[in-house]
Amino acid sequence: MNKFVEEIKEVLKKEVDLSTEEIEKIIEIPPEEKLGDYAFPCFLLAKSLKKPPDRIASDLSKKLKPKALIKEIYSIGPYVNFRVDSRKLAEFVLKEIFEKDKSYGRDETGKGKTIVIDFSSPNIAKPFGIGHLRTTVLGNSLYRIFEYLGYGCVSINHLGDWGTQFGKLIVAYKRWGDEKKLSSDPIITLFDLYVKFHQEAEKEPELEEEARSWFKKLEQGEKEAEGIWQRFKDYSLKEFEKVYRMLEISFDCYTGESFYNKYMDNTIEEIQKKGLAEISQDALVVDLEKYNLPVCLLRKKDEATLYATRDITAAIYRYNTYKFHKLLYVVGSAQKLHFQQVFKVLELMGYPWAKDLVHVDFGWIKFEKKIMSTRKGDVIFLEDVLNKSVELAKDIIKKKNPDLENKDKVAFDVGIGAVVFTDLSTKRQKDINFDWDEVLDFEGQTGPYVQYTHARLCSLLRKYQKPVKRKVDFSLFSLEEEHSIIKKLEDFPKKIKMSAETYEPAVLCSYLLDLSGVFNRFYQKQRIITDDENATDARILLVKSVKTVIELGLSLLGIKAPERM
Ligand code: ARG
Repeated sequence: MNKFVEEIKEVLKKEVDLSTEEIEKIIEIPPEEKLGDYAFPCFLLAKSLKKPPDRIASDLSKKLKPKALIKEIYSIGPYVNFRVDSRKLAEFVLKEIFEKDKSYGRDETGKGKTIVIDFSSPNIAKPFGIGHLRTTVLGNSLYRIFEYLGYGCVSINHLGDWGTQFGKLIVAYKRWGDEKKLSSDPIITLFDLYVKFHQEAEKEPELEEEARSWFKKLEQGEKEAEGIWQRFKDYSLKEFEKVYRMLEISFDCYTGESFYNKYMDNTIEEIQKKGLAEISQDALVVDLEKYNLPVCLLRKKDEATLYATRDITAAIYRYNTYKFHKLLYVVGSAQKLHFQQVFKVLELMGYPWAKDLVHVDFGWIKFEKKIMSTRKGDVIFLEDVLNKSVELAKDIIKKKNPDLENKDKVAFDVGIGAVVFTDLSTKRQKDINFDWDEVLDFEGQTGPYVQYTHARLCSLLRKYQKPVKRKVDFSLFSLEEEHSIIKKLEDFPKKIKMSAETYEPAVLCSYLLDLSGVFNRFYQKQRIITDDENATDARILLVKSVKTVIELGLSLLGIKAPERM
């Protein structure tokens, strides 16, 4: 715990009737430097003290006495503000970063607890489209963040590899499939077959029946059906792997929907035994009308199970396997109702852990200018988007830094980072308007801007040419800009926690933009390396600290921090 906040808590504790935890929760960092380093809002006390918060703040500020680390206490409106000894703050923060280095902000909060994260989960035999970008990068970042906070994390790719559509695909493949085309361009071929099935089924409705019977065979484990399906799956996984390799994302398990097939009868039986299921229009359902939700379909009249049945089964399986503290579903808002139904059924089944299921939802991603070359129809392939970004990054880098070595590798890290950052920096529930000019603007609120700042810091450290000193004269940090940077650095551990609590890597993104911003303002005004050796040593320690935190922050987002750009 930060000892400045500790001291503020101690001072406050004597005068206000709140627990230390409560005090800690409401202490904030004022939005503007000039207001002070920390602030204690008095709104919460207004009720119990029956006094306006402004009065409480001004009374309190007179009563509270500064101690070792606090220098000044004063009130502004409903806030009691604290200014700390900036020399001591600098010493404390910079030493801490120096010592902890690549584990600054790391925490044990989650020790002994498991978080299961269900994310990415594309559908096999379909293109890995831009629609799956958000779940993929959000899930990956949350994994990294929770792991940093000491949780045991399990990443699950809940592949969409089961369902009646595979009956259709098998029919289409058997009728019109072309082996050569399939092996040379599997995803497009399968996608075409799927489209063709629907066109043909309009003219020849019997196809639907045939498809149903093939899916049934598949559910019963019939050899031919399983063989064809397995090949579709293998082809798809190979394609998905390309994207995961680019993003450097891996999964602890690829247990998709099909994995739960063997447990489905158990689930249905259990739901029936608990008296929750009923037959409606020949289908087996759970009526959720009382909860203002549509019925949850468990089994169709042809016996086929559904998406929801598989999710209910998967949740039970996961609890039995991992005894999770939380199970996160990183899935778009379009599936809100689905998860409400699934969670409700599990709750009605009497599972107390149903309250630990979280739908981490997010908005749409839209392409404003459709300059993407799409291989097929409306689908924008994620792989194409990533490649395009790398290409554009390469053009920019060639212009900005023609002599850079390793241009390809740097362009790759910047191009991928740009897409990932754009996605993550948009608050989850907001829609994203993807615009290439914005995504790759090196001076905008972007990934490349943060990466560029990092590269600039690295270049300063190279110029310094000496090992960075940990013991410097901390009283030399007398400028307001330096104080701002130090305060930002101090805030990093808290921001990681906030990202985790709200399942919102956007918190970290805006933090990194702010940190880059305060550093760049300082850099524009002041020279870092000068003839004054003591001042240089001090500033270089600051530079190294900012570099460490930016690199760490980017890695929690799943973004690389190149040393040169
Ligand atoms: N495959 C689904 C889709 O692409 C997402 C699956 C999400 N996870 C889950 N457990 N339902 O829409």
